[in-house]
Amino acid sequence: MGLNTRWKFQRKLMYVFILLVWHLSSTHSAGYFPKLVDLAVLKPITSTSTCGETSSKYCQSLSRATSLQTCVEKTCKFDCCTNCGSARPVPIDLAQSSNKVRVTQDGDPRNGSIVRSFRFQGDSYIQPLRMPTINYVDPGFTISVWIKQKQGNKGTIISKDESIAPNFANVLQLVIQDYNLKFYYRPATGNASVASYTLLQSQSEKLQPDEWHLITVAVINKGLSYYIDGSGVRIGQKYGGDAEWQYEGLMQDILIYNKALTNREAIEAFTGVLPSVYVASHCRCPPTHPKINVAEPAKCLKNVEGDLDTVSRLKDTAHPIEFATDGDTLSFWLSEITQNATIDINLSYTGLQVFYVVLTFYGPVPGALKIQRSLDNGHTFQPWQYFAEDCKTSFNLDNNGPLNWPDSVNCVQYVKPLLSSSGVLTFQTEYPPPSGSNIPVRPFNQDCSNLYCSTRLLQFLKATHVKFDFYNHTLVQNPRHRYFGLQRILVTGR
Ligand SMILES: *[C@@H]1O[C@H](CO)[C@@H](O)[C@H](O)[C@H]1NC(C)=O
Ligand SMILES: *[C@@H]1O[C@H](CO)[C@@H](O)[C@H](O)[C@H]1NC(C)=O
Ligand SMILES: *[C@@H]1O[C@H](CO)[C@@H](O)[C@H](O)[C@H]1NC(C)=O
Ligand SMILES: *[C@@H]1O[C@H](CO)[C@@H](O)[C@H](O)[C@H]1NC(C)=O
Ligand SMILES: *[C@@H]1O[C@H](CO)[C@@H](O)[C@H](O)[C@H]1NC(C)=O
Repeated sequence: MGLNTRWKFQRKLMYVFILLVWHLSSTHSAGYFPKLVDLAVLKPITSTSTCGETSSKYCQSLSRATSLQTCVEKTCKFDCCTNCGSARPVPIDLAQSSNKVRVTQDGDPRNGSIVRSFRFQGDSYIQPLRMPTINYVDPGFTISVWIKQKQGNKGTIISKDESIAPNFANVLQLVIQDYNLKFYYRPATGNASVASYTLLQSQSEKLQPDEWHLITVAVINKGLSYYIDGSGVRIGQKYGGDAEWQYEGLMQDILIYNKALTNREAIEAFTGVLPSVYVASHCRCPPTHPKINVAEPAKCLKNVEGDLDTVSRLKDTAHPIEFATDGDTLSFWLSEITQNATIDINLSYTGLQVFYVVLTFYGPVPGALKIQRSLDNGHTFQPWQYFAEDCKTSFNLDNNGPLNWPDSVNCVQYVKPLLSSSGVLTFQTEYPPPSGSNIPVRPFNQDCSNLYCSTRLLQFLKATHVKFDFYNHTLVQNPRHRYFGLQRILVTGR
């Protein structure tokens, strides 16, 4: 093992969850006047049409106009990424089929259980008889155990040592003392690597010896390729026995998973519920990248602070509607081949003021677009703005018709030439149109020259939900271009 791999090994090796001290901190907005933000980002969104429930073909759209004349065929199919999966990991209970050597099952149960726990004192250990096949490289493994450790004890949770080929001299030892966890590992050749984690102590001052805590340790290591095959594993003691490393106290639910659990799965193992995330919640992160990227929740990160290497939880053939509001402008929503589609965004609050609605399309803009808003949590909607290639034929409205009142609604005719992809439509509720445009200026009110005295305009800016109705298509020639697509929906307000 080279220096470089050893260094990586120590950084990537292990992450630890202590789930008793998990807090979901709620944030409350401070009392300052809010800045403009994207009100749509990560908000509940639905669409009447999204491709990919069954595999389908579409023609790719690019900014080059020629992308509309020739069809570069692509597949739309919703799936989790290959190494992600959606099934809950199933552990093996290591104590179930095991030799218990001077370990008695007469301890207090951990909180929430009625089964007696295992008591370790003096020279005592559990030797599991059944172990899953484990691949350190990927997907790694996870040890999960409830412990109530005796004060001052330096004890081995699990250890492994083998004297038989091909894995001989392959040593593994997980030690805990004062809630500092140390992981020793020695591959078949070379010196021991030691990874220390003081995380446990620093995570919470509430952690005390003589209390029950759930320890979950996930191990994954790209640099090594050894397998635990079931022999030579001990719980509670260093393999071969060594009083210095004897665990003393209670243990319960000693589980091993033949993969490194992801962060959400560690919580799932504790609570029974997989925490939900914005997009494709059932798709898990791959073990190599166990952490949801909060800024782009379809992506997963390593647990290494500052590591920007991400992988998607979804296959790149998936185009769910959340891709329009997930903060990632490279991902996009795609409808089926259809003549109309409706998208609904729940902004989740009442009384919000919306200043801009900006749509960035994948593929050409629809033939016509109606934006509606709700003021009553989505019960009723009223038109807010129309756009069309020709307002008369689509909506029987004038092109760029007059705005007589602060809350008048008109139809804006598209500015030509239309783009084959990445075209942007902007609805400005209050800001005047760009100079030189033939879109009329929205008046404030009689006897009023700014937003704050115009009660009708203030009311016009409000929305709890926004809805988009897309009709027909522009520019497209090939029938497999007859979809709607969005790279981003931005609803700017406060
Ligand atoms: C045991 O669990 C219950 C509910 O799960 C909780 O209310 C209680 O505080 C816990 N007790 C201890 C000692 O952690
Ligand atoms: C192991 O480490 C010791 C000292 O830390 C060193 O003297 C020895 O050469 C090392 N052995 C190998 C195989 O790297
Ligand atoms: C949408 O299109 C379908 C056929 O593709 C049609 O039956 C339906 O009436 C249309 N809805 C609207 C609102 O135009
Ligand atoms: C809108 O979202 C909020 C929170 O995200 C939820 O409580 C509410 O029920 C949703 N309303 C509708 C109509 O879906
Ligand atoms: C969509 O196209 C159909 C057929 O050309 C037309 O009858 C309908 O009015 C169009 N709808 C809109 C809103 O433009």
